[in-house]
Amino acid sequence: SRRPAARPAPADPWSALRHDAAACTRCGLHAQATQTVLGEGPQDAALMIVGEQPGDHEDLAGRPFIGPAGQILDRALGQAGLDRSRIYLTNAVKHFKFVPQGKRRIHQRPNAGEVSHCRWWLQREIEQVQPRLIVAMGATALLGLMGQAGKMTDLRGRLIPGAPPVLPTWHPAYLLRLPDRAAAEAETANFTRDLELAAAVLA
Ligand code: URA
Repeated sequence: SRRPAARPAPADPWSALRHDAAACTRCGLHAQATQTVLGEGPQDAALMIVGEQPGDHEDLAGRPFIGPAGQILDRALGQAGLDRSRIYLTNAVKHFKFVPQGKRRIHQRPNAGEVSHCRWWLQREIEQVQPRLIVAMGATALLGLMGQAGKMTDLRGRLIPGAPPVLPTWHPAYLLRLPDRAAAEAETANFTRDLELAAAVLA
């Protein structure tokens, strides 16, 4: 079976959250995915970074941002002087959504209903970690955090005031997909600059 056998819920809130999320059936995505991928990082991280959903690698490993998008993120974090081990990294949606194509599993963007169901877990993570700043990578992250859609080209790089404030930026997978080399370089620079802004806000 892909899901752990029912065990009594652990007493501490953090372990209880992981225990409960592992058995989530709030939307249909659990049926196809290998496992729930909850966030990773210190429970008292000042910075939380939110992506879209686990990809192929993350679904198998049970950890966020370890595949190609994670490598882009790691590089930009390094350039911005941010230490990944001190950040709480998570996703708006906790199960991998895909369509099988031969041996491959092709990523599908989660729909608004799936994002909405999964907000419950994202809110629990925010309550536990209580970050001072959240970076929203891409439109799905922003939808999960704010509960409403926004246009990334208008919002990117500008702090949205709140408790905590939210900084929208590109999703690293978007940078990988940009066909034009000059555009990819320019937007990767913008992505890094946004992470530098996050570092400055927290300094
Ligand atoms: N893309 C995401 O949005 N999240 C991951 O964890 C991996 C890739």
